[in-house]
Amino acid sequence: MGSFSVLPQVARRLEGKVALITGGASGIGASAVRLFSKHGAKVVIADMQDELGHSICKELNPQSTTFIHCDVTKETDMENAVNHAVSTYNKLDIMYNNAGIFGVPKFNILENTQADFEQVLRVNLVGAFLGTKHAARVMIPNRKGSIINTASDSSALAGAAPHAYTSSKHAVDGLTKNTAVELGHFGIRVNCVSPYMVLTPLVTNAFKVDADAASKFYSNLKGESLEAEDIAEAALFLASDDSKYVSGHNLFVDGGAKVVNTAFCMYPQ
Ligand SMILES: NC(=O)c1ccc[n+]([C@@H]2O[C@H](COP(=O)([O-])OP(=O)(O)OC[C@H]3O[C@@H](n4cnc5c(N)ncnc54)[C@H](O)[C@@H]3O)[C@@H](O)[C@H]2O)c1
Repeated sequence: MGSFSVLPQVARRLEGKVALITGGASGIGASAVRLFSKHGAKVVIADMQDELGHSICKELNPQSTTFIHCDVTKETDMENAVNHAVSTYNKLDIMYNNAGIFGVPKFNILENTQADFEQVLRVNLVGAFLGTKHAARVMIPNRKGSIINTASDSSALAGAAPHAYTSSKHAVDGLTKNTAVELGHFGIRVNCVSPYMVLTPLVTNAFKVDADAASKFYSNLKGESLEAEDIAEAALFLASDDSKYVSGHNLFVDGGAKVVNTAFCMYPQ
């Protein structure tokens, strides 16, 4: 968990904007809540972990950061979360569909149940669909907005996650591009961020790894390690007007991992 200090007014890139972040109570989402808030946004955290969500609001300014309980797989919850953002802060500029699960870490298709497969798709894909749909509902009349989805390196890479997770993240990339085409007509941009491995509860619970063990998964970019804050910075770019002509883009934050096949690599590793 990183800490962000207060910025002078001029450097705040989300001043006056309202953001809703699903999965904002933990990991990458919680980092984005802190960073967006530091940059002047009013932020609604939508998550199922009420205690964690409320504690982040208390740590930040409870006037400008609020929590709403939301299961992203339920349309009424998603609809309520968007309505909450609009009724509390009068509008919605940024929708960050970030909530996600890894699912059961079984890499043998014969051990994958239909129920487990569908649950991963429900959270990772249907959740992003519902968030996009309800954000679009309130953004279309304003003719502007930025929708961001958290995809993954597994939106392009195969073999790094179970079938359900990889399928769901490829689909998030497709959803991002398809909705960017439609919503672009209303001045709404839709993009996704694709992280490589970040040591959040999602990863530590799935793989039972600590920082040392995880370091062997780090990409071919040496000298840096990937933190949740780095993903939040990428999301900040897509949320802010700095990316005003960027839409339908999948922004990989992976140290170049997806462009190399280490099995064939001729360069020193
Ligand atoms: N950590 C990584 O290495 C990594 C890599 C690539 C992509 N991602 C993606 O990043 C996103 C955030 O994951 P994280 O690593 O921060 O994990 P995390 O477990 O720390 O955070 C995920 C958050 O989503 C919430 N959530 C889960 N199901 C939900 C539901 N049905 N409704 C509402 N909220 C729900 C959880 O309560 C949690 O607060 C996910 O979409 C994940 O797939 C993570």
